[in-house]
Amino acid sequence: MATFGNGRRVAIVAGVRTPFAKAGTAFKSLSAIDLGKLCVAELLQRTNLDGKEVQALVFGTVVPSVVEPNIAREVSLMPLLPKGVQSYTVSRACASANQAITDAADQIALGNLEVAIAGGSESLSNIPILHSKAMADTLVAASKAKTLPARLKIFARLRPKDFIPITPAIAEPTTGETMGQSAEKMAKLNSITREEQDHFALRSHRLAAAGTADGRLTAEIMPVYVPPKFETVLTSDNGIREDASYEALAALKPVFDRQYGSVTAGNSSPLTDGGACVLLMSEEKAKALGYTPLGIIKSYAYAALDPGEQLLQAPVLAAPVALKRAGLKLQDIDLVEMHEAFAAQVLSNLKGFESKYWAERAGFSEPVGEVDRAKLNVMGGSIAIGHPFGATGARITTTILNELRRRDGQFGLMTVCTAGGMGFAMVVERNQ
Ligand SMILES: CC(C)(COP(=O)(O)OP(=O)(O)OC[C@H]1O[C@@H](n2cnc3c(N)ncnc32)[C@H](O)[C@@H]1OP(=O)(O)O)[C@@H](O)C(=O)NCCC(=O)NCCS
Repeated sequence: MATFGNGRRVAIVAGVRTPFAKAGTAFKSLSAIDLGKLCVAELLQRTNLDGKEVQALVFGTVVPSVVEPNIAREVSLMPLLPKGVQSYTVSRACASANQAITDAADQIALGNLEVAIAGGSESLSNIPILHSKAMADTLVAASKAKTLPARLKIFARLRPKDFIPITPAIAEPTTGETMGQSAEKMAKLNSITREEQDHFALRSHRLAAAGTADGRLTAEIMPVYVPPKFETVLTSDNGIREDASYEALAALKPVFDRQYGSVTAGNSSPLTDGGACVLLMSEEKAKALGYTPLGIIKSYAYAALDPGEQLLQAPVLAAPVALKRAGLKLQDIDLVEMHEAFAAQVLSNLKGFESKYWAERAGFSEPVGEVDRAKLNVMGGSIAIGHPFGATGARITTTILNELRRRDGQFGLMTVCTAGGMGFAMVVERNQ
């Protein structure tokens, strides 16, 4: 980033997203590609940018379509964009949109690009369901059989278990542990109580409901008229509970460790559909086109740890590096946006920021420090808003920059935890 010695700074000009809808609800008929196209078209319209200016589109998705795996290319092949737009897909689990943004930003900083769109989308309503290996082999063999009896003979080899479909699990391939089980483990290792988790989830819903009611959150959202009839419209996130209560949260049964657990459907982020994207330009190009950017990318860092350890704790290793690269301390930061995969994860990350042990693991002698709760996820987070895996990074980037402007703040820090034990942190600076 802007550290290549050529002095080029990368501006985030604007960001927009679809509403986030719980999987299986309003957007179940839309693919991740549809959701991506919707938000990219809206971004171009809101910024009044001629699509011919866009040189690249970088997009992330976590559970890609088996038949259309390069989501970025499919999204870019829309009437508003020229066919010459370079488009490629990135994958870094729940930080995929962040990876898209930093990839595009690096190319702009290097001088290879002037204008790019980056983001991501996800449809967890439309995850691919695969045949078992035995079934797949049988189908291939049967398609090659020359006669009907030969084909029937091949099908006769199938056993009942071969008919069981394979669905992608939200589990670590190396450990077999699901995300929820990892969150349970982190709650226990970091002494995070059920009460603390439920209070954090309640806070997420209350703040998101307030941000929706007063229009701050909806400002980043486009209305989506739902095909095929276009008779219903979704204008805000449908997982936010205005009536959320501590009592209702406390009454929910643990999902991932039914006997001794504390992680519930209420204090986890829900499975969600949605898309989000941002418009990136070199500062000079933004100026030449007459834009006042939301802000610039000051620094970023990725980190990783053993997924079998504390799967969602790597933001604690990434944040101090991003702060150091920005030449800043936590006290300089006006707003903090942390992806909320689970309340147990956010609370573990917050404890980690205060811990000397984690500071030393990140290569620092002093901890990042205590995050002022008044600056943290001020319009709620993924627990209430929802978490379409590939889109969340672009949602957080847009949210923090819009809110920095409203508060007249200068610096924002965002963090995202991901599958595979990876973490991301970025510092942005509002354009003064
Ligand atoms: C936790 C999880 C398994 C729950 O799935 P689910 O059972 O389909 O969730 P639902 O939304 O149906 O909620 C279950 C119940 O809890 C209730 N509930 C959920 N949140 C609630 C809240 N805040 N207050 C009160 N009740 C709530 C629902 O109303 C529902 O009740 P019902 O069974 O009476 O209808 C699923 O959301 C999940 O896997 N989340 C984690 C996703 C993940 O791993 N993300 C990766 C992070 S990087």
